[in-house]
Amino acid sequence: MLKYNMARLMLPEKQEDRFIPVRVVYRGCESAVRIGWRHGSRTPWIQPHYFNPSAYSIEKGKVIVVVAGKGIGKTNLLRNMVQAYYRTTRNPIVVFQEKKDDLNFNRYPPVSKIKEYGIERIRLAPPQGCRNNQRRLIPLPDELKKDEMEYKLPLAEMDYSTLSEYLGKRMSMTVAGLVLEKIWRDRRNHTSISALKDAIAREMPKFENDPYYNQILLYLERFLIFLEIDRLIEAKRAKFVDNYIHPEQINVIDLSNIGDLDIKRFVVAQTLNMLERAYRKRECFIGITESHIYAPETGDFESKRATIRLVTVLARSYGWTVFLETQSPDAIERIILENADEVYILGYVQRSKLSKMLRTASVNFEGFIELFYKVAGSLPKGIGVYGSATDPYNPYLVRIQLSPVG
Ligand SMILES: Nc1ncnc2c1ncn2[C@@H]1O[C@H](COP(=O)(O)OP(=O)(O)OP(=O)(O)O)[C@@H](O)[C@H]1O
Ligand SMILES: [Mg+2]
Repeated sequence: MLKYNMARLMLPEKQEDRFIPVRVVYRGCESAVRIGWRHGSRTPWIQPHYFNPSAYSIEKGKVIVVVAGKGIGKTNLLRNMVQAYYRTTRNPIVVFQEKKDDLNFNRYPPVSKIKEYGIERIRLAPPQGCRNNQRRLIPLPDELKKDEMEYKLPLAEMDYSTLSEYLGKRMSMTVAGLVLEKIWRDRRNHTSISALKDAIAREMPKFENDPYYNQILLYLERFLIFLEIDRLIEAKRAKFVDNYIHPEQINVIDLSNIGDLDIKRFVVAQTLNMLERAYRKRECFIGITESHIYAPETGDFESKRATIRLVTVLARSYGWTVFLETQSPDAIERIILENADEVYILGYVQRSKLSKMLRTASVNFEGFIELFYKVAGSLPKGIGVYGSATDPYNPYLVRIQLSPVG
């Protein structure tokens, strides 16, 4: 039966050959959005597969982990989720984009594809008072296009531990590091570089009798120079989270022109910490692509701690929806796999890559995966298995639709 239903699942529903109107959808006006079709191993029929955030209570949260090989449809699923979240809620959305032009919520598939795949033709209406439904934030840009904005990390929103990791670990080991740590405790001391200079001037006389006084001063001066020349940190003016992240638009943070992994990790870690402070009282959608880079099994750094916090505390206690995509589930931190509420495995993924995930996930895929790969010959894009921790013994076959926007 599985084989018969697989074959049916692969055939998309053809839309009639007629004029397809564009539907404009407003933020927060729908209760559930179809993102594909699914078929359980116990039911004979195929059902629509919905994304429905209101069906989840706050405590349950939602951590979605997507595993698929290259070009199978991970990003397409993220596009589906983001547009569905936009349509069903009024919460902030922040997604990190790894490839240039991967996400663009003003873009629609051509009519031929819309007909072929039987998807609706929609346009996301911008939030009230905005011209655009998305905001593109680019750290370290070469040049900015019209709708793009340079993304800097405000000094005021920064934690000292993240900053000292970024500027070099040794900084925090010195007495100067201790002085800075003390100064950092009051946020007003570090809203901008001039505020920081004032705070240092106020603090330093206390150390006048210290035998290392001159060394401390030297260190602090160098620290300030670092901050002044760093293009990634907004230190000249006092800026805060709401100067960059818009609570109503889709915030796309483009990491595609940063080559250095440490810088990427710094941006992700700092953004997550900043968002936690700003939006902990409300729910939020976070999408991270290539998440094994930010939370790998080995190593210990701020972005890993922030991602773990995201899936454990923020998703659990504050009801955030977290979307993590990866090609390498074997390289990702175990705590994240354990906390996944929903798992998608699209296309063919080698058994060796999956074994760690199947052992740790709270969904029981044992048996189902083998059966799936046995009956599935060559899989078209977007087809795979789906399991949810709310119903761990009943995984489904899914076919994700081509996203109508994104
Ligand atoms: N469910 C689907 N139905 C039809 N076409 C799809 C589907 N999913 C993806 N595609 C097609 O496959 C292409 C690649 O998809 P996508 O960018 O989502 O892959 P990816 O897994 O993110 O790849 P990468 O690993 O390179 O980031 C898309 O341009 C899209 O046209
Ligand atoms: Mg992709």
